Amino acid sequence: MRIVVARLDEFLPGERRIVQAGRRSIGVFRVGDRFYAINNHCPHQGGPLCLGATKPWVTSAGPGEYAMAAEDSLLACPWHGWEYDLATGQSFLGPGTPGVRTYEVSVEPGERVPGPYVAETFPVHIEDALVVVDTTSRAGGAP
Ligand code: FES
Repeated sequence: MRIVVARLDEFLPGERRIVQAGRRSIGVFRVGDRFYAINNHCPHQGGPLCLGATKPWVTSAGPGEYAMAAEDSLLACPWHGWEYDLATGQSFLGPGTPGVRTYEVSVEPGERVPGPYVAETFPVHIEDALVVVDTTSRAGGAP
């Protein structure tokens, strides 16, 4: 099943959308110019995972030293705070617990696809400050 989530220009970095795919609820996240999609069901106790806060990865080279990644690509469940990698669904609490399912996200041209029907159209002219429709001929596009 393919789901159109949003127009690219209306889905800004840092935003998320939660969409329904049949019985599944899926959160789609824009992190910078990358998109992630992850199941909105926490495997711990079923919390609404995609309502949680996003956070950056934190790494440490040693005691007292840490660095935070530039982008928030971890998702914390709002119920108990388990964190999941948005790209893989892998959790980092509860060893042995399966990760969350993730999905491919693509950005595609938003072109309109012509449907099977064509309504009749007519050319419109302006004549002496009057808007005039000419029903004796067809406007462009219709056969
Ligand atoms: S239900 Fe998500 S961390 Fe517990």
